[in-house]
Amino acid sequence: MPIRLERSYRFSAAHRYVRPDWSDDENRARFGKCWIAPGHGHNYRLTVTVVGEIDAPTGFVVDLGVLDAIVRERVLERVDHQHLNHAIAEFAPGGQIPTSENLALWIRDRVSSALPAGVRLAMVRVAEDDDLAAIWMGE
Ligand code: NI
Repeated sequence: MPIRLERSYRFSAAHRYVRPDWSDDENRARFGKCWIAPGHGHNYRLTVTVVGEIDAPTGFVVDLGVLDAIVRERVLERVDHQHLNHAIAEFAPGGQIPTSENLALWIRDRVSSALPAGVRLAMVRVAEDDDLAAIWMGE
């Protein structure tokens, strides 16, 4: 019987919403304050949910140290105290806008491919504050 395990992390990062192919007026109209250079920061809360069968001898779905190491090495060390537009190639000028939505999918791709056999990613939630979060829901 599958069971889900939820784990939360924190990181701080800056971002700016800007499309170089749009005029300043259009960027300002579409992105508002999020367009202002050089950007602004958030104290993010990342929640990752994995699903799998319980390993009977340990009682674990996943070894928490293994999950923490995956998230730390593949996500947190890349984004914490960084400017996402400069630190992450996918969010460089002309690439994706570093919204919480796009960040959630970037995190999904980096975590899901590294999980141990038998453990699947079920959800990624990226909250930039108490009032806004993007959620990717898997199966
Ligand atoms: Ni923002």
